[in-house]
Amino acid sequence: MEKTARATQKAVQRCIDGACGASFGLRERIYVCPRCGGTLEIEAHSHALRSATGNPASLRKRWAARAASHDPIDASGVWRYREMLPFDEPIPFVTLFEGNTPLYHGPRSARYCALDDLRLKHQGCNPTGSFKDTGMSAAITQAVVLGAKTAVCASTGNTSASLAAYAGRAGLQAAVLLPRGQISAGKLAQSLDYGALVCEIDGNFDDCMRLIQELGDDPSIYVANSINPFRIEGQKTVAFELMEQCLWQVPDHIVVPGGNMGNSSALGKGFQELLDLGLINRLPKLSVIQAEGAAPVARLFATLDIEQAEAGDNLPAAMAPVENPRTLATAIKIGAPVSWKKALRAVLRSGGEVIAVTEREIADAKAMIGRDGIGCEPGSATTVAGIKKLVSARKIRADENVIAVLTGHMLKDTDYVSQYHRGTLAIDTGAQAGRSPQPIHGAFANTPERVAANKSAILSAMEKRR
Ligand code: F0G
Repeated sequence: MEKTARATQKAVQRCIDGACGASFGLRERIYVCPRCGGTLEIEAHSHALRSATGNPASLRKRWAARAASHDPIDASGVWRYREMLPFDEPIPFVTLFEGNTPLYHGPRSARYCALDDLRLKHQGCNPTGSFKDTGMSAAITQAVVLGAKTAVCASTGNTSASLAAYAGRAGLQAAVLLPRGQISAGKLAQSLDYGALVCEIDGNFDDCMRLIQELGDDPSIYVANSINPFRIEGQKTVAFELMEQCLWQVPDHIVVPGGNMGNSSALGKGFQELLDLGLINRLPKLSVIQAEGAAPVARLFATLDIEQAEAGDNLPAAMAPVENPRTLATAIKIGAPVSWKKALRAVLRSGGEVIAVTEREIADAKAMIGRDGIGCEPGSATTVAGIKKLVSARKIRADENVIAVLTGHMLKDTDYVSQYHRGTLAIDTGAQAGRSPQPIHGAFANTPERVAANKSAILSAMEKRR
């Protein structure tokens, strides 16, 4: 096996396909392996990484000291971990002070899942309201390094909002490809306000993604979808921040939603790097939850012989896409996720699971997270729905240490929220043309009450609900 190591200083871009394994310099504007079309990832040279990081105890201290600093490069929850990132100093970093998101206890959500405790890492508290900002900070910085004029992405709404904001900060043009009529109003409004060229495409997300791959040939354009390995580098820092918040006690389970599978790939990479550097002594089990109508990876996972998958190194060659993905969790309405291999490898190496949950399970879990005073968008609630299922299937024990990663803010999709609580939430199953959408009867609907404009009517409304 020949390796084309046109390596640079700290790291290379390497094809994850074991039979190819080609490597390319960090300045090459590529998104998939030019040799075999495989997925790329950044691979740090271990000697360079070790000399940059030093011993685990001093690295932890250095990161903690930076968190208390007001210098933008330290205050950012991405650039604070810069020795783990493939950029040379001085870094022309683009930041909106991403990361630094809270880790909450969710007692009601825990009870709902039959767990003793459940913590929720809320990546929806990022500057544009979703987890995309950590990766976008790194990807747009790389666009600046490469001298791109325009940053582009296909999106179900959050990547586009994030790209539009970060490209705006960097003074680059942003162009986003969105499936027309399938993006929540809030997410669309963000891309418009941040000044992006919004291209509404007649098709679904997977069609937009195919177009993006064609646009990537133009040297003035930089593709910032999570197929781009620099996005994953920014996104992996959540693993570092999370371990600091856990005082370096490794949780038993980390559970994330799965759409295009970038987030799960990134978390897997982040934890693996911490393990390789000796900052943690084992991997948490990484599990990914998809919506039943858009669950190609969960379907593939169910057919895998786990022993044969050999701890993630003997991956299946192909995955059957879902042709017409359907879910009201529009963020994860994806039938052909581009990073499925990387994500599957991370799940298998950690001993986690990939499962699907129903629309009703997602909707009820979302309302339960809301009752904890936290809230999230529908796609994020797959995590709590999935944890509940994994607990009943005895894949998670009640006394284990479990963290759900919430990926988007509740205000991203308020139409969904009010329809759930007013009892009008329904999904078009597409089973038969002309058939009316199937209603989703939520268990925790909190319907607004029409109350007469006087004190006693209000008090009696309160009394009824006590
Ligand atoms: N949760 C939210 C809120 C998302 O927006 C997405 C993906 C996911 C989960 C799934 O993450 O793709 O890394 O597996 N949203 C993309 C977008 C596709 O365009 O905003 P993933």
